[in-house]
Amino acid sequence: MDSKHTRLPSFEAHASRLASTHLRQLLADEARGDRLRRRVGPILLDLSRQKLDTAALDAVGEYIESTHWQAARDAMFSGEHINTSEDRAVLHTALRSGASRHPVAPADVRKEVEATLQRMEKIVGAVHRGEGETVGLIPQVTDVVNIGIGGSDLGPRLAVHALEQFHVKGIRSHFLTNVDGHAAYNLMNQLDPRHTLVILVSKTFTTQETLLNGGVFRDWILRAHDGDERAASKHFLAVSSNVEAAEKWGVPAAQVLPMWDFVGGRYSLWSAVGAAIAFSVGMDNFRQMLAGAAEVDDHFRSAPWQENGPVLLAIAELWNRNVLKRTSRAVVPYVDSLVDLPSYLQQLEMESLGKHVHPDGGIVEDSTVPVVWGSIGTNAQHAYFQALHQGTDIVPLEFIGIVKPAHPLVKNHAALLSNLLAQAAALALGKTFDEALAEAKSGTDEQRRALAEQRTFEGDRPSTVLMLDSLTPYSLGALIALYEHKVFLLGHLWRINAFDQWGVELGKAIASQILPSLDANPDALTQFDSATRALIKAIQSRK
Ligand code: F6P
Repeated sequence: MDSKHTRLPSFEAHASRLASTHLRQLLADEARGDRLRRRVGPILLDLSRQKLDTAALDAVGEYIESTHWQAARDAMFSGEHINTSEDRAVLHTALRSGASRHPVAPADVRKEVEATLQRMEKIVGAVHRGEGETVGLIPQVTDVVNIGIGGSDLGPRLAVHALEQFHVKGIRSHFLTNVDGHAAYNLMNQLDPRHTLVILVSKTFTTQETLLNGGVFRDWILRAHDGDERAASKHFLAVSSNVEAAEKWGVPAAQVLPMWDFVGGRYSLWSAVGAAIAFSVGMDNFRQMLAGAAEVDDHFRSAPWQENGPVLLAIAELWNRNVLKRTSRAVVPYVDSLVDLPSYLQQLEMESLGKHVHPDGGIVEDSTVPVVWGSIGTNAQHAYFQALHQGTDIVPLEFIGIVKPAHPLVKNHAALLSNLLAQAAALALGKTFDEALAEAKSGTDEQRRALAEQRTFEGDRPSTVLMLDSLTPYSLGALIALYEHKVFLLGHLWRINAFDQWGVELGKAIASQILPSLDANPDALTQFDSATRALIKAIQSRK
């Protein structure tokens, strides 16, 4: 990243030409469609419903080429300290480099990564065989509870839920995240402490939510062992880059798996942070997920920009955000088991790219990350799609579908897919006033026209379709890596550091000041603002 605060080009001529070009016209150009539909391993990426013609596409692509993005990409893959505010390398790609055709991560890193995968393999295999005691754990595990938050939760949660058809029989997975006691309490009520294995996942091992919930589970398991700490410790694994703190907390050294400073939390599901995934689907499937990601890594490093999936996704985002000024993007998977994808992407994209300062302290003058949100289709169609079709704001959408489902209910899947295709088409094509008027059969002319106005869809609303052949560990790995590299490239183009997250610190600091004050006399809490004092008072009065 250089320190020049060059703004993005405005692409004005292209933007004004396209302002009067409806997506209906753009879609009539089949050669353009072919350029915007690309295969990336098991994923078909269809950007043909983005408001770009080939001239605009080339202009943005050529601009991206001029930024030397390949050098920035290679710096990341080879372990340069591109996370400058923390002086760290960014090497999540090293975690899957064992499956890469051209691994370039430093050899010592690769060695350490593989050694950790082998430790995971040993532990997971022993638990699956009902021989946990051979690795220092309880012999029979029925339930695995992942306690972690943010990157220590969202990735494992996404993959475990997405890969439900690959679940190993006899092991149930649970995710405890929030500090809201209802979650821990309800979970403990469902589980048998004697057969529960807890994975405490925290890169820093200082996160309030995780340590508090870990303590709640430790007390619960201790009670089941009449206070025998040694017996209770066999129920715990920890994953952290702060191995010392994990051991101090009470997890024996042999049960602490490492994580490294060169992997950001939101990029960490490929490491031992993904232990819950491995327990849930087995180590072979976990390695398949790494292999899917490695295929996209190789693709990102070798495909020319015109065919490069992450580059094309970044072009669409840049166009929507910086040229068309769209403020949000909706992610709508037409796959129930991808229910966690929108929240996963919220962290990946918004924590990475939610910045307005360059690494050298200068203010970013271009808009950065849009709000990322969404939920499962078709359910979403019956909730907020009205606003997406006819609301005043235009929200670019991302549809995710799968060709082959993991069930034999052919009619269900056909209905699901046809809805996905129909929504993308309806948003792009719309319905003209004349078409709506022709449908309005009764009433006066004035009434028919008023109704037709309300039933007109202007269309011209952009979307992308990502179609996976099927949802497997391999294709899931590929999908996530595709997004990761899009994020990397946008960070490069916006000239921000996509790998730190200083913005989450202030709230944490204030919460730690408020916590001991919740029972204090609010009038004496002069360190807080008047609104905080009033709320503490109100809470106290209703206890
Ligand atoms: O507060 C944000 C954050 O630091 C995320 O970046 C991270 O994924 C999450 O908290 C959890 O952190 P840890 O793994 O250190 O508990």
